Amino acid sequence: MCGIFGYIGKSEAVPFIVEGLKKLEYRGYDSAGVATYEHGRIFVSKCEGKIAELEELLTDKPIGGEMGIGHTRWATHGSPSDVNSHPHTSCDGKIALVHNGIIENYLELRRKLSEEGHKFKSTTDTEVIVHLVEKYYKGDLEKAMRQALQEVTGSYAIAAICEQEPGKIVCARKGSPLIVGLSDNEAFISSDIPAIIKYTSKVIYLEDEEVATIQRKKIQISTLDGKPVKRKPTLISWDPESAEKGGYAHFMLKEIHEQPGAIRKTIAHRVNVDSAKVHFDELNLEPKEIRHFNRIIFTACGTSWHAALVGEYLMERYAKIPVEVEYAAEFRYREPIVDDKTLLIAVSQSGETADTLGAVWEAKARGAKVISICNVVGSSLARESHGVIYTDAGPEIGVASTKAFTTQLAVIYLLTVLFGQVRKTLPQAKAIQMINNLMEIPDKMERVLAKEADVEKLSEKFYNSTNALYLGRGKGFPVALEGALKLKEVSYIHAEGYPAAEMKHGPIALIDKNMPVVVLAMHGRRYDKILGNIEEVKARGGIVIAIASEGDQMVKEKADEIIYIPASTEAVSPMLAVVPLQLFAYYIAVKRGCHVDQPRNLAKSVTVE
Ligand code: G6P
Repeated sequence: MCGIFGYIGKSEAVPFIVEGLKKLEYRGYDSAGVATYEHGRIFVSKCEGKIAELEELLTDKPIGGEMGIGHTRWATHGSPSDVNSHPHTSCDGKIALVHNGIIENYLELRRKLSEEGHKFKSTTDTEVIVHLVEKYYKGDLEKAMRQALQEVTGSYAIAAICEQEPGKIVCARKGSPLIVGLSDNEAFISSDIPAIIKYTSKVIYLEDEEVATIQRKKIQISTLDGKPVKRKPTLISWDPESAEKGGYAHFMLKEIHEQPGAIRKTIAHRVNVDSAKVHFDELNLEPKEIRHFNRIIFTACGTSWHAALVGEYLMERYAKIPVEVEYAAEFRYREPIVDDKTLLIAVSQSGETADTLGAVWEAKARGAKVISICNVVGSSLARESHGVIYTDAGPEIGVASTKAFTTQLAVIYLLTVLFGQVRKTLPQAKAIQMINNLMEIPDKMERVLAKEADVEKLSEKFYNSTNALYLGRGKGFPVALEGALKLKEVSYIHAEGYPAAEMKHGPIALIDKNMPVVVLAMHGRRYDKILGNIEEVKARGGIVIAIASEGDQMVKEKADEIIYIPASTEAVSPMLAVVPLQLFAYYIAVKRGCHVDQPRNLAKSVTVE
């Protein structure tokens, strides 16, 4: 997965493109490049490394022009190198093209094109597209693009410019996002909203298998087979400031701090506190359907999968419906048994994760009803689902997900209340109590955030560790998984999340005096058992860092380190307990000198399988 940004207007294109690519850098950051058109020629500048290196290159050898396309890469086919960086160019250098996605039949196409005399410079799958476009080019870039795309299989978001057709960027998409931003005198293309929100809030989402020709004041969309498409622009309500760091050292830290506000925003318009009525605008589920389902399958990847796992505990307990939680990539290829009594709930921050989308297609094809919980309005997942609930977290830029996770938890909690009410498994008094408990979360979260300095101090003691274990029971288990994932992602310390009871079946062998063991030890039904697990760790010399409920003395006596969080019910506790773990991972990563917002090898949104 990669980022694409393009500009066409009356100003120099390069500063816009570089700025746009910086915003998209979270999508991939192993190489970058830009192509512009000026005075009848195409100029390309590209190199291995981050956008900062491209910027240096552009300072040494500037390229001009009032239109251009840029790319930041996360390598799939062909290692990161100058030559494999995008844009790629045709043999005659007159067409330049950038691509996000994977061309699955590229080897076969490359062989054929080579036999026809095309000279390949890179080892990427992308380069075949530009040669195909060159092959079909007879003075109409859009037409050539359409013909070329008939031959490729796989996924793509593409943008291309051509020396013979100044004033035009031709784009296409299938399975990878591409957005066109419209302003009075200029137009932008981008892989996501945060990169263009500074310039315009008027956008058009390209749909799969559509081709668009973008001019300064005109956009023309058609299907791959040439049928014209009319689409009205959508107005985006995100605040441009939300895509900036706002004084924080990193997006991750800013986003951790934004969580109370994000949860308030996510729940405020969806609940009536007095009546415990929950309403989701675009859910598209009738009460009779909610009663008809005999099973829920949650599917997701990464952090979103952990939120889904909390969903299993909540839905089974309060809505009394069997739940499974599936890794999207496993689900989709397993010939899953699904029918019209199955509700599939896909959870995704970006709404563009390829595996999650694949799971949705599979479930739909087998007759399931699909709803998605996602953060990006108009994303592919939202459009592919029968119903959608948006988390109102605002743009999440840090690669390690934080506020998306807690808002997903809030939404899943509300959905549980709704299902419990409709299925008559949740008494009204309990529903009111649950809603009240949720309403208290943002304030309680602020109290957790006020302990940031304590967590930072704690990180000083552990930033040289090489391993860590995270243990939890019940709803604390997904939080343990998430805490371990955060540490792995941003600090590169090996960390395992485990159900505390399972520890004795393996991980216990790892415990020694150098092993920090983070234990989710809040009050709740399994509290006594967790105390027992702490004893087991201590008996083997491990260092216990406990997350405990305010006022708890028992845990304090046993643990080496303790972080208190406000007391809450178990059902809402994951939203609070994860916050110190996010901060812990963040400060450890900072102390280890890691690139927090762009950890090595990762990308924010994985749009390839
Ligand atoms: C990547 C990101 C993770 C994220 C996962 C799922 O691996 O680095 O932070 O949790 O994708 O992404 P999604 O957008 O589907 O929630």
